[in-house]
Amino acid sequence: MPIADPFHRPLRSVRVSVTDRCNLRCQYCMPEEDYVWIPHDEILTFEELGRLTDILIGLGVEKFRITGGEPLLRRDLPVLVRALAQRAADCDLALTTNGVQLARFAAELRRAGLTRVTVSLDTLRFERFRTLTRSGALNAVLEGIHAAAAVGMRLKLNAVIVRGLNDDELVELLEFGAEHQAEVRFIEYMDVGGATHWRSADVVSRAEMLDRIARRRGRPEPLSQDGSAPASRFALPDGTTFGIIASTTAPFCGTCDRGRLTADGMWFLCLYALHGLNLKRLLRGGAPDAEISAAIASSWRGRDDRGAEQRLAVERRGPFVPLSRLRHDVHAEMHTRGG
Ligand code: GTP
Ligand code: 5AD
Ligand code: SF4
Repeated sequence: MPIADPFHRPLRSVRVSVTDRCNLRCQYCMPEEDYVWIPHDEILTFEELGRLTDILIGLGVEKFRITGGEPLLRRDLPVLVRALAQRAADCDLALTTNGVQLARFAAELRRAGLTRVTVSLDTLRFERFRTLTRSGALNAVLEGIHAAAAVGMRLKLNAVIVRGLNDDELVELLEFGAEHQAEVRFIEYMDVGGATHWRSADVVSRAEMLDRIARRRGRPEPLSQDGSAPASRFALPDGTTFGIIASTTAPFCGTCDRGRLTADGMWFLCLYALHGLNLKRLLRGGAPDAEISAAIASSWRGRDDRGAEQRLAVERRGPFVPLSRLRHDVHAEMHTRGG
């Protein structure tokens, strides 16, 4: 039985960030010119990550998602994936990547035991990709998607929709997903730490996305869904399915079962939490597994976070974390939190 917080939310799923570095600069996540990075010697080793994985499995965790920054920038990632796939053999293991280096790693990752990958793909247009990510790597991402499909990975595509940037591409992205057997999930633009250009006027709500899709492709019908999944799923009249993650206008905090581990071993209970538990200090201070397990369990049992719901109640909303704080608190950044 997994442990539960005071709202009866079980700890079932953990997002493991393996690096805070990223090779893109998406407008909605890393719009600034300069960033402060976690020093290399602070980053958890594969041994430390393996140990934490075992402890988390012992606490009932069933789902692990490897994230970043961009996880494929972590040296020898397939070695880590192999170790996690063995340790977490009965768990759901997936990777979220921007896809830029996926073509190079897809086969090796598949051999290491990874079967599920989510690629961020916000646009199919080259010029727009450049504006959105400050990189010319769209072709590499498309090659990465093909390579992952070719080695038999189950694919999802994530698109954060921002008004005026890519909100006219919903149907094109859906069609691309259908051609590649990849379910597309549209994500509402969130005011998370790092989204320093966020304005509520730029959020395209789930309702608006559904309307826009309906006008061109017929009304999407809601599908039944897994209670704790962030995406609500829909089917078009032609059978194409897709998801919408409405974190901004319809938060799912009530069923949130996610903990997050940063690359330097901070344990956060919410995407919006400003304070975390320093597991690296315990690991490197010689604490036995039982002590680390008890610290994680106790943090979860006291968890009252409902960050996205609280943000919804804020009048005149702007970016959640001011730039001045981000400059000295890397852990408040979405790219350190692991998306
Ligand atoms: P699967 O359903 O297992 O495929 O994974 P997922 O949807 O949890 O993972 P993914 O990495 O694709 O997450 C998609 C996006 O949903 C993230 O990048 C965030 O924008 C958002 N998201 C994920 N987890 C949370 C969460 O706990 N809270 C909120 N508010 N948003 C989240
Ligand atoms: N709003 C919504 N999702 C975001 N992500 C990063 N920043 C934001 C934001 N401001 C998520 C996206 C992206 C992943 C790496 O992190 O899903 O694909
Ligand atoms: Fe969970 Fe926090 Fe996201 Fe709400 S905002 S769903 S509590 S991580």
